[in-house]
Amino acid sequence: MYELIVNDVCKSFGKKAALNNVSLKVKKGAIFGLTGPNGAGKSTLTSILATLSLPNEGTVKISGVDVVSNVKEVRKKVGVTFQQTTVFSTGTAWENILIAGKMYGMSTSKIMERGEHLLKEFDLFQVSNDLVGTYSGGMKRKLDIAISLLYKPEVLLLDEPTAGLDPESRTTLWKIVTKISQDEGTTIFVTTHYLEELNDLATEIALINHGKILDIGTPKELINKLAADQIEIHYRKLHLSNVQKIEEYISDLKEVVRYELKPTTLTIMTSQGQQILSKLLRYLIQSNVEIEFSELKQATLNDVYLANFNEKGVEQ
Ligand SMILES: Nc1ncnc2c1ncn2[C@@H]1O[C@H](COP(=O)(O)OP(=O)(O)OP(=O)(O)O)[C@@H](O)[C@H]1O
Ligand SMILES: [Mg+2]
Repeated sequence: MYELIVNDVCKSFGKKAALNNVSLKVKKGAIFGLTGPNGAGKSTLTSILATLSLPNEGTVKISGVDVVSNVKEVRKKVGVTFQQTTVFSTGTAWENILIAGKMYGMSTSKIMERGEHLLKEFDLFQVSNDLVGTYSGGMKRKLDIAISLLYKPEVLLLDEPTAGLDPESRTTLWKIVTKISQDEGTTIFVTTHYLEELNDLATEIALINHGKILDIGTPKELINKLAADQIEIHYRKLHLSNVQKIEEYISDLKEVVRYELKPTTLTIMTSQGQQILSKLLRYLIQSNVEIEFSELKQATLNDVYLANFNEKGVEQ
């Protein structure tokens, strides 16, 4: 069951194509990550999902409802936190919450009840009567997200929610957001440049550049596709009689994409570093090779990012 379906969406600003036939699907309850360089089209897509901008072509459905023809209904289903903070610095957290709640058409008692719950979850209750202008960037961000959850949205859109936050604040913020989304079954669509966050949290990730989706997959699928785990095994000099046998063995391992066998080192690029390393060590020991040490450098989403965006050229 898909909560969010984006189908062939195009969006231009004058001659500039910001989104070019973008299609993606997000399952209910998923945390879907969108990443790509500056200017890739992430915020443009988020604005369309939030009904704040219209696509030139294509369709977007949220819980089966079209974002163009049913704006009112979609807005009841969606909570959004923009890249730029939208809270009023001249008011308190409570004043911000009351204004937002009234805009959603919530009753005062409902706003108070939900507001208190969220302020406590986001650890802002103690400072909820202080002016937001006195908050740190991380606290403002938390308030921003708390407000986007006020109406218990089915889909939460977060555009770079953790940009500029220190690692501890980022972790804390994600703990709170994932707890609430699990409790309430919220689907999350998040854009970010912090790939380690996506690795830990995202059920699926889409890579976007120049308004085009380059790839979509689970973190593991994207990393495995790269086949960039690197194994290095160091050993005492190989007997010549062993070399051919070892080469044959490695050539038969279908997960190995590249290897280099030298008299005292074997280097391998593969999609399955851990499995191949243990297979190889077992085989080499059985073949009486005297192992000195081995190393495994597993590919990460950072490698995926660099492979997709650096080689193909980032927008200047
Ligand atoms: N209102 C606008 N008017 C003109 N061009 C725009 C407008 N909004 C976005 N663009 C252009 O569309 C492209 C995509 O911008 P967008 O803000 O969606 O990128 P992004 O992926 O969110 O980037 P960042 O990581 O910097 O936030 C950019 O080339 C940008 O200059
Ligand atoms: Mg942006």
